Amino acid sequence: MIQFQLNGKQVSANVRPGTTLLDFLRDKGYFSVKYGSDKGETGADTILVDGNMMNASLMLIHTVSGKNIETVESFAHGQDVHPLQDSFIEEGAIQCGYCTPGMVLAIESLAREKDNPNESDVKDVLAGVYCRCTGYVKPVKAAMNYLATGEPK
Ligand code: FES
Repeated sequence: MIQFQLNGKQVSANVRPGTTLLDFLRDKGYFSVKYGSDKGETGADTILVDGNMMNASLMLIHTVSGKNIETVESFAHGQDVHPLQDSFIEEGAIQCGYCTPGMVLAIESLAREKDNPNESDVKDVLAGVYCRCTGYVKPVKAAMNYLATGEPK
């Protein structure tokens, strides 16, 4: 039995040893967290753990006991999306969308961690999330627009 916070709610779960956080989250319907590889290179499985970018496929579920996990599901409430998601939409920064949740979480972790991040900081943090559609220019622009508003979550 483990307990942790998931998107602001307390979770208690009986889990089999060896279960990854990715498998747990997808089993519970958090489909924004994607499989990319077993080694975490793609960033499709990006989540926030205590505000830090992590790869859910590389974390065993028992290691998150007592931690605060965030997925992008916590960023939108119905039609009411997070300002960063709004910036992605406004900029047309979404193609197939497979990488988008990871990009959003990566940028949000940067916004929380650093005052006045610049474009180089954004590119550095997005280096951990591959976009197979190769759409990096617009996500960087969307991030810079969002960061300029000073409205991090
Ligand atoms: S938008 Fe398709 S993988 Fe990034």
